[in-house]
Amino acid sequence: MKIDIDSTLRCDVLIIGAGGAALRCAAEIFEKRPDTSIISITKVTHPQKSHTSTAQGGLAAVDPKDPLDATIYHMFDTWKGSDCTADQNVVKTICESAWEQILWLENRGMHFSRNRDGRLSKRTFGGHTRNFGESSIYRAVFEADRTGKGIMDTSWGETLKKGIRFLNQTIGIELLIENKQCHGVIALKQKEGAFIKILSKATVIATGGSGQVYRVTTNCRQNTGDGLALVLQSGLPVMDPEAVQFHPTGIVGPGILASETLRSVGGILRNRDLEPFMIEYAPKMKELAPRDLVARAIESEIRGGRGIVNPDHDIAHVWIDLTHLPDEVHEKQIPEVSSFFKRYVNLDTKTDLCPVRPSNHYHMGGIPTNAWGEVEDKNREIIGGLYGAGECAAASFHGFNRLGTNSILELITMGSLVGNKVVDYLKTMPSAHHDLIPQSYQPRFHNYLNSSGKESIGTLRSRLRTVMTEQVSVFRTEDSISKAIDTIEDINDRALHTSITSSHLAMNQELVQRWELENLLLVAKSICYAARYRKESRGAHFRDDFSVRLDEFNHHSLVGIDDNGDCHLSRREIDMSLFEAGGEHSEKFDFIERSY
Ligand code: FUM
Repeated sequence: MKIDIDSTLRCDVLIIGAGGAALRCAAEIFEKRPDTSIISITKVTHPQKSHTSTAQGGLAAVDPKDPLDATIYHMFDTWKGSDCTADQNVVKTICESAWEQILWLENRGMHFSRNRDGRLSKRTFGGHTRNFGESSIYRAVFEADRTGKGIMDTSWGETLKKGIRFLNQTIGIELLIENKQCHGVIALKQKEGAFIKILSKATVIATGGSGQVYRVTTNCRQNTGDGLALVLQSGLPVMDPEAVQFHPTGIVGPGILASETLRSVGGILRNRDLEPFMIEYAPKMKELAPRDLVARAIESEIRGGRGIVNPDHDIAHVWIDLTHLPDEVHEKQIPEVSSFFKRYVNLDTKTDLCPVRPSNHYHMGGIPTNAWGEVEDKNREIIGGLYGAGECAAASFHGFNRLGTNSILELITMGSLVGNKVVDYLKTMPSAHHDLIPQSYQPRFHNYLNSSGKESIGTLRSRLRTVMTEQVSVFRTEDSISKAIDTIEDINDRALHTSITSSHLAMNQELVQRWELENLLLVAKSICYAARYRKESRGAHFRDDFSVRLDEFNHHSLVGIDDNGDCHLSRREIDMSLFEAGGEHSEKFDFIERSY
């Protein structure tokens, strides 16, 4: 079996991923530099299968003509929502360019929903407020409850017509980095079973999330944290991995997303006694408090014995009640989610209470970048020619808790910012590519293919996902995290004794799953070590044994994993430029108290 390099491709820009951030980045590059050669590799069968396509709720963006809203409110909500851990320079840049991004999409054909006056419709989401928390505000624009699909259609079309080259079912397995400079990637083309070298002047990692680390997740099957693993294997750190978001309302059973839109249009969360319990946890914002708080409220109801246990699957849950809403809301605003309830649990949102409970949803942490998406090492030195955008990257716009609809805004905006940065960078690059000899993929893939033990890849993967869901979830403690770490180490040892039935490289799904298992283990390990280190509660990272936020942890966590598998923690300062600028409203950007 041939695990040598089969062939070499050359391009100006390589994008690892083909979701919303990847395509927006490529579109921006084509607009500014039309003759750029761009290759996008994606592990899925078609760019449209990227996880962005599943996004439901919308994009937060302040309409400059809105008499009630203001960009400073969006910045404040994002900062407060992040539990004072977002980087304020990034918050400012993204919130200020949000409406421009909406116009970009609208002008390229996206079908945003409109109201009867023909204006873009807006909805509110958890933590979106006017006048610094005074009351809810309608800020998110959307395309019914399938906004992500609209974004993918629009940006895919833009890149296709400008000549992007997609390599589908192709995985990036080693970054080619020398002297803090990235020159491309080694990839496996699954259909051909060929290892190829792609030499690029700029490389953008846009591989999406890592939700498959958890058993119960809203994420697609492909979200195995591959981009995070790529940087960890290159000796670079990941940032804030312990900041994992649990969406309050996953559909019980499959765990898939029941959009926050349900609460935005008036859905009420009820416990076993049909009490609307959110008033106890967020007296002012109730169902429209941010996600970390609502997820904890639901879990607390369940822990307190006020959940409902369905004997069919034995999973405790609460209800979301939509039965009081007019038919028009069910049909026009939430047709997709209503159809999910029908299809997966055979319930009608018009007449039935629907079962929900928190489900892993989003990774706030990721590959550390500066405000323009340039990847940084633990000393904040830039890795030349290497960029990160979308969920796999952390600039950081979301800090420790992301507000609903800020993710699509972020991936679109960071995609376009990275595109611009790449265009500038290409001006400085010589025309010839720098070739490099790969260092790590051959021994790894040789071991995957040649070990001959009896351990099952599927069983190990499932054990990892279960321990993370049970021990490092909405609530964590020193003990529960340590249990997960012990299990991860055990799985790491056992993974050396898996075997792969077929030695063929073409479409060898066992081989890809073995590679994914390693990625999942690396990401899980970084989550656990950072979660154990952070002896406080902040945003989505809630420690039962340290239940308040502490000033001594007012920083980002950086985690690196060395060749022996040892984790190394360091820190990055939080950018406080809005606070430090002084003047009107700057006090709102201090380490403020967070209540809703
Ligand atoms: O609830 C939702 O529709 C999800 C939106 C988001 O994650 O931003």
